[in-house]
Amino acid sequence: NLSVVRTVADLRARVARWRAAGDKVGLVPTMGALHEGHLSLVEAARRQGANHVVVSVFVNPTQFGPNEDFSKYPRQEAADAAKLATVGADLLYAPEVGEIYPDGFSTTVHVAGLTDGLCGPLRPGHFDGVATVVSKLLLQCLPDVAVFGQKDYQQLQVIRRMVRDLNVPVLIEGAETVRDETGLALSSRNAYLTPEQLAVARQLNRVLFAMAARIAEAPERCLTEIEWGLEELRVAGFDRIDYLAVCDAASLKPLDVADRPARVLAAAFVGRTRLIDNVAV
Ligand code: PAJ
Repeated sequence: NLSVVRTVADLRARVARWRAAGDKVGLVPTMGALHEGHLSLVEAARRQGANHVVVSVFVNPTQFGPNEDFSKYPRQEAADAAKLATVGADLLYAPEVGEIYPDGFSTTVHVAGLTDGLCGPLRPGHFDGVATVVSKLLLQCLPDVAVFGQKDYQQLQVIRRMVRDLNVPVLIEGAETVRDETGLALSSRNAYLTPEQLAVARQLNRVLFAMAARIAEAPERCLTEIEWGLEELRVAGFDRIDYLAVCDAASLKPLDVADRPARVLAAAFVGRTRLIDNVAV
């Protein structure tokens, strides 16, 4: 029995009741169009001890660039609510844009350094939009634990840093990427793909896992493996590759030698759809 609230005041009233009962609260921020990946985050919040799980659905305008898919991003609240009920989420928080960004809104949260590479320069302002809205959602809900997917690995690191730097009293949990039977990372944007484009998209995880295995065998060969992977992606039919990188798993600085925990990360276009994925070395 999932209920829906649309204002900060109603959200806080619900959470306050649970708090008063001594219960632990989990928050799963999303932009909706929910799939098994999102639902796994609800389960991860429970595993972290949350007795009650709030899922926010808010297509955040400030994290989309002018030429990105904000207006066509899928919005399907009734279907989302039905899916959340199946995993026993307690509350759907679905605010209007004006509730999050009232007239005169003037504050931005910027996480420097971690946003210098990978998606940062390619999506100017994106991580500011993410860090700002996630700060607000955390302060509105004040959960004990908030869960984010490793699918958006740079986003996860940005949020971890923001929470640490601003002393936000919440535990951030990073959950494993949920994939389909071919290894394709589930994403709301997969819905944009034609069957032919899906076949191309499915090559992305294959190349990343292959690179991770090859680099684990020969850690000094990062640059060679990146060249190999770029060629594989081109042959697979990706229309544009934004980046293919091997980075330090914590700082996200590029590595020539994977002599510490590392991550292989990529962003590439199939047609007009931009896909991202990453795997651990
Ligand atoms: P969205 O893309 O809807 O994703 C919501 C959460 O689900 C994120 O933490 C994301 O990493 C996670 N997720 C997406 N696909 C996943 C998969 N296949 N397996 C596991 N987790 C997955 O990310 C955002 O929304 C927004 O930027 C948000 C954090 C809500 C701020 O607006």
